[in-house]
Amino acid sequence: MKSHFKAALAQSVEHLIRNERVIGSNPISGSITFSRMNPLDNMLSEELQRLTESNLRRSLRIIDRSEGVLLTISGREIVNFSSNDYLGLASHPALAEAMAEGARRWGTGATASRLICGTTAEHASLEEELASAKGTAASLVFSTGAAAATGTIPALVGRGDVVILDKLAHACLIDGTHASGAKMRVFPHNDLGKLESHLRWARETHPDGKILIITESVFSMDGDLAPLREIVDLKERHGAWLMLDEAHAVGVRGTGIQGLAGELGLIDRIEIQMGTLGKALGVSGGYIAGSRVLIDFLVNRARSFIFSTAPSPAVAAACRAAIKVVCSEEGDRRRATLRGHIAFLSSLLRTEPAESAIIPLILGSEERALAEATRLFEAGFFVPGIRYPTVPKNTARLRVSLSAAHSPEQIRALAGALQRSSQGV
Ligand SMILES: Cc1ncc(COP(=O)(O)O)c(C=O)c1O
Repeated sequence: MKSHFKAALAQSVEHLIRNERVIGSNPISGSITFSRMNPLDNMLSEELQRLTESNLRRSLRIIDRSEGVLLTISGREIVNFSSNDYLGLASHPALAEAMAEGARRWGTGATASRLICGTTAEHASLEEELASAKGTAASLVFSTGAAAATGTIPALVGRGDVVILDKLAHACLIDGTHASGAKMRVFPHNDLGKLESHLRWARETHPDGKILIITESVFSMDGDLAPLREIVDLKERHGAWLMLDEAHAVGVRGTGIQGLAGELGLIDRIEIQMGTLGKALGVSGGYIAGSRVLIDFLVNRARSFIFSTAPSPAVAAACRAAIKVVCSEEGDRRRATLRGHIAFLSSLLRTEPAESAIIPLILGSEERALAEATRLFEAGFFVPGIRYPTVPKNTARLRVSLSAAHSPEQIRALAGALQRSSQGV
């Protein structure tokens, strides 16, 4: 073959590879069908390729069956150490029955936003019961915790105001802050000195502005606690407000659904208390709890509440059942079991007793976190490798989350597999 012809052929094959994707092939003739990629898909596939090369590509894993902490994936039984179902309520028969009864009674969907015609007695009762269990005057339920954050923050602050966030605050808290247009200041994780200097700066430079501090109580990827008492003292001293995200504390810390704020007797001193209904409560949704006037204001101003179809009433019914269980003696027993599991795994790993159900094992590189997660999966344990941007660069990790539904034998087996991993076996 003439060399210029060969070059032209190579060029057109290259063009095909870059601009067209295979949509089918005939196994008998071996012929391949191409479809032309549009420029957007072309650009996105290059970006995906870059993610793959830097070990940052994500893909969805299909679960074929789920029974408590046991998952069936690709025909194999795997013990799940990746969920936030801390009390094992996602498979509780009382919640499933409440959801089924809710659907029979109300139908499957709310059919409109809450302000149009989507507020059922089920939603109203859920909010009353949630506020009463939390120890606040009122509460407002959103379709997710993320929607609670992205609706509430821009409703409360805007241009001319300041939001001060912990460095490890969840993405939805950062997104809500960006959407608000307020000036954003970040303090190093749990660094009270830096928080105080940001508060002083905010007061000096924005004398008429509002100042909102936002933190989590139990941090989602580290499992440690915020120094909440000190943060509350600081915000009062500097005339700021506090929004506390208790997503990973509710049902784990404090009694009932009171979280860390309840455990430390701070419920009355925190203006905006946020939580989710999809983690320890085992259903889905998010909420803000606080004063009646705060809730009435959010009904009028939180865009993710106003311009979105309400959560299904069947979901609201299941959430009511979840709160009932968490606040009962059974809830206390499940929490005690979970605390026992946390102490047990910490002792097996020879670490300080963890402060929550989240135990991170920091590995550093994305590559290592992925390799270890794969190795554990092959050994029968689902422990996710958490990578940038969920955690800062060079802090990729395995995130073990415990549930009251685990058995001591499953935890012992996981600890063995983790130790084999650290010894490189
Ligand atoms: C700390 C924290 N806040 C908020 C959320 C968002 O809650 P939801 O999953 O209900 O949207 C999450 C979820 O992962 C979280 O970890």
